[in-house]
Amino acid sequence: MIRLFDVRVPGPVQERLEAAVLETLRSGQFVLGERVARFEAEFAAYTEAAHAVGVGSGTDALVLSLRALGVGPGDEVIVPALSFYASAEAVLLVGAEPVLVDVDPHTLNLSAGAAEAALTARTKALMPVHLYGCPADMPAVAELAQKHGLKVIEDAAQASGANLDGQPLGSWSDACCYSFYPTKNLGAAGDGGLVTTPHAEVAESVRLLRTHGATRPYYHEAVGTTSRLDALQAVVLSVKLPCLDPWNARRRDLAKRYDEALAALPVTVLRHQGGVYHLYVVRVPQRDRVMRFLNENGVEARAYYPYALPDLPPLRGKEHGDCREARAAARELLALPLHPNLHESEVAEVVETLAHALR
Ligand SMILES: Cc1ncc(COP(=O)(O)O)c(C=O)c1O
Repeated sequence: MIRLFDVRVPGPVQERLEAAVLETLRSGQFVLGERVARFEAEFAAYTEAAHAVGVGSGTDALVLSLRALGVGPGDEVIVPALSFYASAEAVLLVGAEPVLVDVDPHTLNLSAGAAEAALTARTKALMPVHLYGCPADMPAVAELAQKHGLKVIEDAAQASGANLDGQPLGSWSDACCYSFYPTKNLGAAGDGGLVTTPHAEVAESVRLLRTHGATRPYYHEAVGTTSRLDALQAVVLSVKLPCLDPWNARRRDLAKRYDEALAALPVTVLRHQGGVYHLYVVRVPQRDRVMRFLNENGVEARAYYPYALPDLPPLRGKEHGDCREARAAARELLALPLHPNLHESEVAEVVETLAHALR
């Protein structure tokens, strides 16, 4: 089976991972501490961010960022109608209302035009998602935010290492949220997440919220939660961070091969400018039949995502407009295998099997 994801790393990296995990296990320092602080500093330097705060997951990165930016009950947050559920779920978790707007049909990212049309007096923030690693149009989003005095929270869960026009993600927003779920481009050995922000007070607030709002031991100033990056995950991430650029380059090369090979087939390749590839996703007619054929013939492929967000029960009725592009895409999207361990010959095999399925 050609796998959709493969989280194995090359031997020398695996050895460094094992040594780092063993050293941490023996240290007895498991929650926050110097290893987490070290990774936060490394990730801040890598993304050219002023501050980086490690948290328990990508979802918590979104939730705590929203809270740190003062988003709560009575506020609306604009979220693209096509994303992983957590983007909108985070808004619900802070008691605010997600307003789901249609996506650009070529990139499937937040359309600034659709976002502008959905603004109301209650709109507090915009949440662009860099879907599949392709950066949203951040200059347009930032301009819209500035014009209307809105906060911007980037969902960069799928885009570790991405740049847009030479600038790292996080350059246009109040908070940029990452997930280190194991299959992500920078994956931990469990759950993990992180917030970068240019604002010292937002970083301070996320730090406060991740440890029960405690400003000193047993003195709690706010209602927070338990959401800390743990030291074992931090050392795994520190070992892997220097590999992220070469792994992303490998994903990009493989994606280019897919682009070239798929040009002859009746599938639609997404416009994926800049950024990184988290997934390689195409639009195919009769997606479910094609997916079944691939899965029965040695290629793991997955509908990613099979539902537009407004079609999920907790989000029903929360769309602005008809979200036609998001809904049309959800019927056709198919993720094909993509990971740094994939071989060129496997890309050829996937394409051949896909051609067969489409015949
Ligand atoms: C776009 C997007 N947002 C948020 C998340 C949530 O991240 P986590 O699973 O680390 O909570 C994910 C993870 O799958 C994601 O893909």
